[in-house]
Amino acid sequence: MIDDEPTSEESTNEEPAKEKPFRRRQRYRGTHPRNFNEKYKELSSSPDPETIAKLIGAGKTPAGQHRPILVAETLEFLAPQSGERGADVTFGHGGHSEMLLTGLQPGGQLLALDVDALQLPLTEERLRGLGFGTDTLIVRRCNFAGLAGMLPQVGWYDGVDFVLADLGLSSMQIDNPARGFSYKYDGPLDMRMNPERGLSAQDWLRRCRFDKLVRVLIDGSDEPLAEQIAAVIVELSSKERINTTGQLRLAIESALPEDITDAGRRSTFARVFQAIRIAVNEEFSALDTFLRRLPDCLLPGGRVAILSFHSGEDRRVKHHFRDGFRSGVYREISPDVIRPTGQEIRDNSRSASAKMRWAIRS
Ligand SMILES: C[S@@+](CC[C@H](N)C(=O)[O-])C[C@H]1O[C@@H](n2cnc3c(N)ncnc32)[C@H](O)[C@@H]1O
Repeated sequence: MIDDEPTSEESTNEEPAKEKPFRRRQRYRGTHPRNFNEKYKELSSSPDPETIAKLIGAGKTPAGQHRPILVAETLEFLAPQSGERGADVTFGHGGHSEMLLTGLQPGGQLLALDVDALQLPLTEERLRGLGFGTDTLIVRRCNFAGLAGMLPQVGWYDGVDFVLADLGLSSMQIDNPARGFSYKYDGPLDMRMNPERGLSAQDWLRRCRFDKLVRVLIDGSDEPLAEQIAAVIVELSSKERINTTGQLRLAIESALPEDITDAGRRSTFARVFQAIRIAVNEEFSALDTFLRRLPDCLLPGGRVAILSFHSGEDRRVKHHFRDGFRSGVYREISPDVIRPTGQEIRDNSRSASAKMRWAIRS
């Protein structure tokens, strides 16, 4: 998911509810709050339901939550049945999992995977709180590239009846400045979906050579100013002068032509941040490995649905399904890409770039 949509930040400038003087929102210096904790009143342990409802009504995502995308379309295709076994390999906030688990009852089981070591326990706690016990919901921190290896570890040797992958970032990741994913908030330049592993974006950039960064910017976001931007970033990073999202944003800005529009500037920030994030998390290679092993993970007749938010991801999914159909691995594939309705995009602006494809194992 690209992080250039309106966010909760833009939705916190409402007046406080008059009947509730003790729950007034905090006043900030300037027009916008600068600190994540003060910014997100809806993030509190007892968020005001009115605030949450207002945000959702305005098509925004409350902080600390993620609104699942293409839910009806996903459920219609995956159609979980009682007693089946399924895998949600991008657990996130558990929105899709919750619906799938409901369809799997009684007697079905869901294996939920995510790489995010920070978010995973919170989502597991949320779903356990909804009554999904360990007999029904199995949660593992695992890259979906390792799904084929994880299935036998949980005793599922033959594969699963369905797999769901909802690629990209969750809103909890995008909206938290401490995670360093968004150009909109100043914070440490981390960008790791699992901050316990691998290099942060700051360290990754310090080791990155000019040619490689140009390639990353082109492959990850078709950046037209890849060379100019890469030259500035590589120079400043080598002097250890890009340590925060704000500093990366300034570096990008200094490479842009003076007559660029505000919208053009914001799109460039979003593209460059996205491309670096994809590289830091090795997202394309994880998807390639996942797709290569996917047929081994599905029982005969098994269903798979994949939601993507980036042309590089969608291209990989499309080619994998098309080639698998031609070779007989899949007996049926989605004839066209499935997109959110205009209503869903109005209700949740973050769904705008979503594309869903599906396939059925022979
Ligand atoms: C768009 S969110 C999923 C939201 C989820 N469907 C929901 O309803 O809340 C994508 C999630 O996938 C996770 N993720 C991304 N790449 C992954 C990978 N290679 N392996 C496992 N999880 C991954 C992210 O950490 C994030 O939590």
